[in-house]
Amino acid sequence: VKRVGMLTGGGDAPGLNGVIRAVTMKCIEDYGHEVVGLKRGWKSLLDPEQDTVMPLGVEDVRYILQEGGTILGSSRTNPYKKEGDPEKVVKQLEEFGVDALVAIGGDDTLGVAKRLHDDFGTQVIGCPKTIDNDLSATDTTFGYDTAVSIATDAIDKLRTTAKSHERVVVVEVMGRHAGWITWGAGLASAANVTLIPEVEPDLDQIASIFEKRAKSGEKWGLVAVSEGVTLSEEFMTQNAETDEFGHVRLGGIAETLAKEIESRTGIETRHVVLGHLQRGGTPTAYDRILSTRYGLRAAEAVNNGEWGKMVALRGNEIVTVDLSEATDETKTVPNDLYKAAETFFG
Ligand code: F6P
Repeated sequence: VKRVGMLTGGGDAPGLNGVIRAVTMKCIEDYGHEVVGLKRGWKSLLDPEQDTVMPLGVEDVRYILQEGGTILGSSRTNPYKKEGDPEKVVKQLEEFGVDALVAIGGDDTLGVAKRLHDDFGTQVIGCPKTIDNDLSATDTTFGYDTAVSIATDAIDKLRTTAKSHERVVVVEVMGRHAGWITWGAGLASAANVTLIPEVEPDLDQIASIFEKRAKSGEKWGLVAVSEGVTLSEEFMTQNAETDEFGHVRLGGIAETLAKEIESRTGIETRHVVLGHLQRGGTPTAYDRILSTRYGLRAAEAVNNGEWGKMVALRGNEIVTVDLSEATDETKTVPNDLYKAAETFFG
């Protein structure tokens, strides 16, 4: 019988509790292992607190599938940022009596898991998580479907007010350097323009879309824009508020675009930043199912001793792949998919 530890790292994503529930129930009921949660991600192993080790039984997790967030808490602590910290993590795992670890997180958390496995032989299984959908090792991750649904719903709601006041509303969507959430929400909500970091926006094209709409009697519109979108260098030097690297300051792209659209078209324009709303609330049915399937397979991987592997979705199968694949590259929106969204511009 093993003592299985489990932690969640990085930004929370709806579906994390689904993984925790499935790992716990399968490990206990099918394999007879003991399961403990390690609260607050890798921080739990560097800086333990009174409540760090959270014993998990079947009754603790039975009804958490519908809950957003993570009952284990999270942090962005990365032990590989400081010399000596990886050794501390390994020692702490030993002290907690944890002999198998399930690490649930994005490329940062899984990168740590991989290095602990390679450097110290830590018996670890990874489970991918991100609302951004930017992990190349898996077709998709839980959290993404929920984030797209929330952003779609928000844009649908903004349509009625945009129409009533004859305004353009620019909606800023999360996703860091990948446009997946914006692409999905832009398509699903029939936004008039969808802008992603993978493609530099054409301001003339955007202005002419709204001018044309106004001429045909529709003096309103909706733009879905990813937080990671940057405008041309020429525009930036002339207009936008930039950070020390000359990039649009984070969170500022919707505001910058709104001002630009208003000044070019004369149509009153507002902006909305959806922010962390996109990570909140209850996971969609899809994310509940995917996270449960990931958790079941992760428990199986623990039982089989598939150390250094992570669970992944390939087609309709849950498989295990090398943890190194988790950090391979950022999966971005391919051009042909973006073109599909462009078909509906206007
Ligand atoms: O990676 C998930 C994500 O929500 C990104 O889309 C966003 O850029 C970032 O995390 C926000 O991070 P934080 O929650 O630390 O503000």
